[in-house]
Amino acid sequence: MQEALRKRIEAAGQAHLLAHYDAADAAAQAKLEAQFSVIDWEALPGLIAGYVLKRPETAIPADLAPAPFFPFPAKTAEQEKLYAEATAKGVEVLRAGKVAALTVAGGQGTRLGFDGPKGTYPITPVLHKTLFQYFAESIGRISEKYGAPLTWYIMCSELNAAPTKEFFEKNKFFGLADGQVRFFVQGTMPAIGLDGKLIIGAKDSLALSPNGHGGTLLALRASGCLDRMAADGVEYLSYFQVDNPLVPIADPLFIGLHILEGSQISSRMLPKTCPTEKLGNFCLSGGRLHVIEYSDMPLELAERLNPDGTLAFLSGSPAIHIISRSFVESLTQDGTLKLPWHRADKKVPFLAADGTVVKPESTNAVKLESFIFDALPMAERAIVVEGSRKEMFGPTKNATGVDSAESCRAMLVERDARRLGLAGVQVPRNADGTPAALVEISPRRVVDDADAVEYFRANPVTEPIQPGQTKAFGK
Ligand code: UTP
Repeated sequence: MQEALRKRIEAAGQAHLLAHYDAADAAAQAKLEAQFSVIDWEALPGLIAGYVLKRPETAIPADLAPAPFFPFPAKTAEQEKLYAEATAKGVEVLRAGKVAALTVAGGQGTRLGFDGPKGTYPITPVLHKTLFQYFAESIGRISEKYGAPLTWYIMCSELNAAPTKEFFEKNKFFGLADGQVRFFVQGTMPAIGLDGKLIIGAKDSLALSPNGHGGTLLALRASGCLDRMAADGVEYLSYFQVDNPLVPIADPLFIGLHILEGSQISSRMLPKTCPTEKLGNFCLSGGRLHVIEYSDMPLELAERLNPDGTLAFLSGSPAIHIISRSFVESLTQDGTLKLPWHRADKKVPFLAADGTVVKPESTNAVKLESFIFDALPMAERAIVVEGSRKEMFGPTKNATGVDSAESCRAMLVERDARRLGLAGVQVPRNADGTPAALVEISPRRVVDDADAVEYFRANPVTEPIQPGQTKAFGK
C-alpha cells in the first residue's frame, strides 16, 4: 500500500485496519486497498464525532409550515384547465422520448428477509411475476403507447449489481429492446463501530453498505449516466423505489405539471391517514421545500389541525419524484454533493480475532445513509402533487402486515378489479367490499384506466368471473 494512503488511515484514527492489512495475504490486501482508496479519510473523524460517538440532533426549523400542493382531482376550474394543459405537455414529452425511468434498487431489503435483490421478489398475486418483471412489462407498454422507447435506469449497489444483471440477462430483459435497460452502481459507506472504529467484515473486506438513496444523484454523474441521458435527449427522470409496483411510471399529468410549473424536482404526496403515520412530511421552511422524517416531526405539529378538522401537515411522501436532468447536473457539477447523513444503528457481522465472522446479538455499529429528499431544499422551485394512495403506493417493505408483500398484492388485485369494472367486467365482492376473486391484468397491456377500457374492448371477457376464481388477463 502506498505510504501516503497508510498515513491518511493512521491520521483518521483507524490504525487497526493497517494491522489487519499487514497480516492479510496478497489477494486480500489488493481488495482491501481498493476499498481503502475510495474512502474520504479526512472527512471520517468529523463524521465519527458528529454521528457515531454522539447522536446527531436533527435541527427542526422554527418556521416550519405545511407545504402547498396541487390537489387531485382538481378543485377549481382554473386547476382543471392547468391539469389538461399539463397532461397534454406530459404526453408530448413522452412521445418525444424526453423522459426516462429511474428505479433505485440498491437497498439491502433486510426487512423483507428475502435472499437476493429485492427486484427479483415475486409480487403479483396470480402469475407471481417479480417486481422487476412488473416494471419491465409496464415500461414495454409505455414505450408502445407513446411510440418512443422509455429507457430504464436501475441503480444497484456493489452488493447486488451482479445478481441483478444476471437476473435480467437470464430473463432476456423481459422483452425490452436492446440497451433499453441501463444499470449503474451507487457508492458505499463503511460501517462504523460504536467505538468509532471501522468494522472489518471479512478477511478481505471492510463491512460496507450502500450509501442511501441520496447516493443516486452523485452516482448518476459518476457513472456517466447523465452524459448518456443528455446525448439521448432525456430531460426528465421518473424516480421510484423498487418496492412499489403500483407506481405510475409515466403519468403525463405529473410530468406535465413539473414542466409547466418550472419545477426542478417534483414530489407526489399522499394525504396522511393519521398524524404520526410513518411517512416523511412535506414542509416549507425559508421558502424551500423540506421533508421532515416522521420520527423527527414534533408531535405538536404532526397533530395540528386546520379549522375544518383536517391535518395541517397533511402531506406524506411516498418517495415518487420527477427530477430534471439539469437539476442533477447543477447539483453535482464539481463531482461532489454534500447531503446530510442519517444514522441507523445496526447489527453488523464482524471478523473476530480467531478469524471467524460473528453475527452480533445486539447493535454494534452505525450505518450512515443520505436520502434523496434532502435535495429538495436545494431546488429553487419544487412542487408537490397529490396522488391516490390505493392506486399508486403499495411499498413491499415486510413479508406480512403493514407495508408488506401481502398488502401490496391486495392493492394490485383491488386496482385490477376496479379497472375490470371500468371495462364493464364485474369482479364479485366479499361482504367487506374486497374482491372475492384473485385477478391480475398484465402491465404489458394495461398501465392506466384508458388502457383497461381499450384492452377489454378488443379482448372481451366472455365468461363471468366467479367468487374464489383466480384469473390472469393479457399475459
Ligand atoms: P428502504 O429505505 O426501504 O431500504 O429503501 P432497503 O434497504 O430497501 O430496505 P431495509 O430498510 O433494509 O428493509 C427505499 C428504496 O431505496 C432504495 C431501495 O432499494 C428501495 O428501493 N435504496 C435504499 C437504494 O437504492 N440505495 C440505498 O442505499 C438504500
